[in-house]
Amino acid sequence: MPLNIIIGTQWGDEGKGTITDMMADKADIVARYSGGDNAGHTVTVGDEIFKLHLIPSGIINSNTICIIGNGVVLNPTIFIREIEELEKRGIDISPNRLKISKSAHIITPAHIALDTASEMARGDKAIGTTKRGIGPAYMDKTQRVGIRAEAFADPENLADLIKEHVTEKNQILKSIYGAEPLDETAVAIQYVDYAKRLAPYLVDGVVMLDDALRADKNVLAEGAQGTFLDLDHGTYPYVTSSWPTSGGVLIGLGVGPKYVDRVIGVTKAFTSRVGSGPFPCELDGDMALRLRGTGSKPWDEFGTTTGRPRRVGWLDLVMLKHAIRINGFTDLVISKLDILSGLDEIKVCVAYEINGERTENYPTTLTDLEKCSPVYETLPGWQEDIMEARVPSDLPENARAYVAYISEKIGLPIPYASVGPARRQTVAF
Ligand code: IMP
Repeated sequence: MPLNIIIGTQWGDEGKGTITDMMADKADIVARYSGGDNAGHTVTVGDEIFKLHLIPSGIINSNTICIIGNGVVLNPTIFIREIEELEKRGIDISPNRLKISKSAHIITPAHIALDTASEMARGDKAIGTTKRGIGPAYMDKTQRVGIRAEAFADPENLADLIKEHVTEKNQILKSIYGAEPLDETAVAIQYVDYAKRLAPYLVDGVVMLDDALRADKNVLAEGAQGTFLDLDHGTYPYVTSSWPTSGGVLIGLGVGPKYVDRVIGVTKAFTSRVGSGPFPCELDGDMALRLRGTGSKPWDEFGTTTGRPRRVGWLDLVMLKHAIRINGFTDLVISKLDILSGLDEIKVCVAYEINGERTENYPTTLTDLEKCSPVYETLPGWQEDIMEARVPSDLPENARAYVAYISEKIGLPIPYASVGPARRQTVAF
């Protein structure tokens, strides 16, 4: 009856999709518990590349059932587009395999318009959101005026709810932001059409997962975003509006902690971030270009959702240790180890200096974070291409030593490292 959890240890984009897809082999159910289509997973299976924003990457595994949990904000336009895309590729996405919790909240075009307008109004203080309407949808949820997926079951009532909702948001768009209002009737007609398509996917997510866990099924919670984008524990206010951390899993799916078995953290072999906000180990110049790639390959460091070049830096153990505190990881998976091949030396941040004082604890205030300068240790690199390595002995000694060094520093086992984008490109330790 285990619930296994996969969580990003950084600012998202850690390569969780590939690990989820690998682990989905053994999972009966894969569940999304937070965020929305601000997430982007690129999963490579054989020659096929799948880019998913909402549907859990476990869908690619034919024996797995996927569910969008109550903690997710769901944009039906994107969800239906992904269904159609997967259908075209011959993947069964019938309501037998794909479910939506009735308590998940719905994103509307009014949320997207508000996200865009408020970001523009912030000017140089913009969060750098994905402009997918995530923040405004969670604002409606916490303000207790959101529209839940359960409304798809009653299209007539949904039409009224949507008209009311768009009319109210139009007032804000016009009066606060001077933005164009939306046509409430057109949005209502569109959402009634969506409701007819999506109603068959609705379930009571809490009962479904409880039944599954009691029946000894294996449930995998697929993280989106990362620990440092968490509304409470991230680099506030440069965060997302949900809880990607392990606490968010329990709320976002409605399950109790007694079922939790493994909490697996996923970290890149270096660090990346999209959007604004502090990034103590950020690099620029040639090394940044080297780690980011040129964008010619789908796994280069450009946002899956927005296409923005990601900011990059060395691996930061201060952050990683903080993520371990918050999430209670049982083990850690490293992705993109292959990207470090060809470097003479590799730096790892082991502490920060703030006003000349050394600390190994991640500061929780923006003021302190902005003053941090990284303290690095330097490890020898390796020149060999490691993309065909499958067992530790295939790796050069320095690559093995890099993984062992991280494991020793954080006090957790590292069962896997990925050495390429494909599912098979993994070394098991
Ligand atoms: P929002 O979630 O669109 O409101 O964006 C808030 C912040 O989270 C921005 O800095 C985004 O770039 C970042 N963000 C949201 N989702 C992801 C993700 O899946 N990967 C990386 N960054 C993300």
